[in-house]
Amino acid sequence: MPTPPINPPPPPLLQSPARLLISAGPTHEPIDAVRYIGNRSSGRLGIALADHAAANGWTVTLLLGPTGLTPADSRIRLHRFRTTSELQRLLEAEFGSHDVLVMAAAVADYRPRATPEALGGKLRRGGRSLTLELDPTPDLLAGVAAGKRPHQLVVGFALEPPDQLMESAMQKLNRKGLDMIVANPLETMESDMIEATILRADGTRTQTTGKVGKADFAVSLLQEIRVALAARVGSIRAGMES
Ligand code: CTP
Repeated sequence: MPTPPINPPPPPLLQSPARLLISAGPTHEPIDAVRYIGNRSSGRLGIALADHAAANGWTVTLLLGPTGLTPADSRIRLHRFRTTSELQRLLEAEFGSHDVLVMAAAVADYRPRATPEALGGKLRRGGRSLTLELDPTPDLLAGVAAGKRPHQLVVGFALEPPDQLMESAMQKLNRKGLDMIVANPLETMESDMIEATILRADGTRTQTTGKVGKADFAVSLLQEIRVALAARVGSIRAGMES
């Protein structure tokens, strides 16, 4: 009797350890050779998440904007960016080889249009008022999420005024095609503390009990991600077997 062919096992959906890509910190969009438009993001939460995940066995890549803070764990692969364009190039190069993206970077929505005067060096003081023309930046997160593979999770952030927090965060989650979004009020920026709600694509949510330290929130967020990733892989495997 010939031996019946044995079906090869399906390739693993996830490498072990799972691979986490995090973006954190502000972008600086140049006005000229010495000036920029930026924001007050410190990158603190993304850095705390990177350190906690690396300490717990994840393979971690951190894309970090211009901030004075740096991660402590030497196992983290660190890439620095300054502008939205640099971050976009890093995301395009890195996302494919990761299982989860946590997009904590405070990306500029507008950047100064590059003019010959600005590219030439330093804008000179003139007697008259100066008008800067700004162009919209692409939505990096929506672009990445549109190209994600079934097992990949994409987590965004929504920084909102308190009266629009939940509604606007839910709209962003849907509009950008995310698996999860962390809704937090404007005062979170630059602070050591965060009061946040994690909203999931299935409509469920988890809220912090008041303000918590960002390092503590990083622990809860990683646990949420671990559970969501396991559920996603489980449902893909179930679909393969049925
Ligand atoms: N984001 C992005 N690319 C942009 C702007 C934002 O990838 N050009 C990402 C942020 O990293 C964050 C999420 O989108 O994870 C939401 O950012 P937020 O500033 O709250 O929302 P916006 O989409 O910029 O919308 P708005 O500024 O109108 O609130």
